Amino acid sequence: MKNTYNLRSIAAKAITQVLEQGQSLSAVIPEIQQRISDKDKALLQELCFGVMRTLPQLEWIISQLMAKPLKGKQRIFHYLIMVGIYQLIYTRIPAHAALAETVNGAINLKRPQLKGLINGVLRQFQRQQQELIERANNHISQYLHPKWLLERIQKAYPHNWQNIVDANNQKPPMWLRVNQLHHTANEYLVLLEEASIEAELDKSHPNAIRLLNPCSVNTLPGFDKGWVTIQDRSAQGCAELLTPCNEESILDLCAAPGGKTTHILEIAPKSKVLAIDIDEQRIKRVNENLQRLKLHAVVKTGDGRLPHEWATGEQFDRILLDAPCSATGVIRRHPDIKWLRRNEDIEQLATLQSEILDAIWPYLKKNGTLVYATCSILPQENSEQIKAFLERHSDAELSSETGTQEKPGTQIIPEITGGDGFFYARLTKQ
Ligand SMILES: C[S@@+](CC[C@H](N)C(=O)[O-])C[C@H]1O[C@@H](n2cnc3c(N)ncnc32)[C@H](O)[C@@H]1O
Repeated sequence: MKNTYNLRSIAAKAITQVLEQGQSLSAVIPEIQQRISDKDKALLQELCFGVMRTLPQLEWIISQLMAKPLKGKQRIFHYLIMVGIYQLIYTRIPAHAALAETVNGAINLKRPQLKGLINGVLRQFQRQQQELIERANNHISQYLHPKWLLERIQKAYPHNWQNIVDANNQKPPMWLRVNQLHHTANEYLVLLEEASIEAELDKSHPNAIRLLNPCSVNTLPGFDKGWVTIQDRSAQGCAELLTPCNEESILDLCAAPGGKTTHILEIAPKSKVLAIDIDEQRIKRVNENLQRLKLHAVVKTGDGRLPHEWATGEQFDRILLDAPCSATGVIRRHPDIKWLRRNEDIEQLATLQSEILDAIWPYLKKNGTLVYATCSILPQENSEQIKAFLERHSDAELSSETGTQEKPGTQIIPEITGGDGFFYARLTKQ
């Protein structure tokens, strides 16, 4: 049966929501995916994420092809043209199909009169494709990052900033976390082999497996039965570092969508976990993930800065604080971050993180363990944050496995076939 929708116009709409209205792709795309075919889900993802990855190059090319940019209500057609150019440069879709589908997007967006304009711009691009790409490369920064972010990365990593930026511009690998309550990673690898899914084990994380080619979760053996979860290997380090034990009371703060809540429970299924997040919508996903994995936790909405509003006053044996952060370690998974974040957000996030840390510290038992984690690569949110915390709290001690007093924490940078950028610090209360 022929689709009644036009995928290029849907992609242009999603991109408009991100770049003009400040929404994130991860908020916009899941809702759209409910109404399109499985095959189109992958293409929608490729078009939207690809445009975010290469935005400065595509913007520059359009500026050469159109004397006046489309503005106001017509802005969506600017992004439709962008989707067209992206397909011609980066996908194997035959040019005639990419062109026809993109031009027809104007009909779905109820402006058939713009078909001629879109067709004209895309055909002009086709004629000058090589030359325009070469000129774009000379005119724009090949790093495809906003200036403020590039400068922050260069300052923090004067020797390897280029590797970080390269990794940010790649498509991310797909990592699995094998549920150890069902299988070892070795056993699950055999199941993947039987399903003809190529994969390899990870040396540093016991339950992590990397797929050589990303695939749909529905093709993963036992996904519905909770045998496996999609989670980057760096994220798996958080619950491992927390070392939760059965019978302990554990607070998972900033828990949604529950990737680490479920990992804690896979390691210690009889621990008593309280999962808190401020976002009511995202917290629903913690419950869905717990259900799929048949695990149990108490899940509540709450602000980490105001624990007296949701905690009963008891202290916890362990606390995992997976703090809200700039997400600069996961740009390859969320390339829209490059255009949604602002330089001034970093200071605001660092303040929020320190407020949550200070508010929650009294709720940790003596000799208890707190793991602070972010998916950021910026020192302000990471080593500097923990250094300042240690200065404020004389009863906090940094475990030697995560850095030194001078440079607290373990900083992981994103690697092309490796894990995401991440930071962990393990603190104990004296
Ligand atoms: C990095 S994400 C958490 C990911 C989650 N731990 C996981 O593994 O699936 C950070 C979370 O912090 C939440 N958050 C932001 N500000 C918060 C606050 N003041 N109190 C509690 N949660 C907050 C966000 O809603 C977001 O879900």
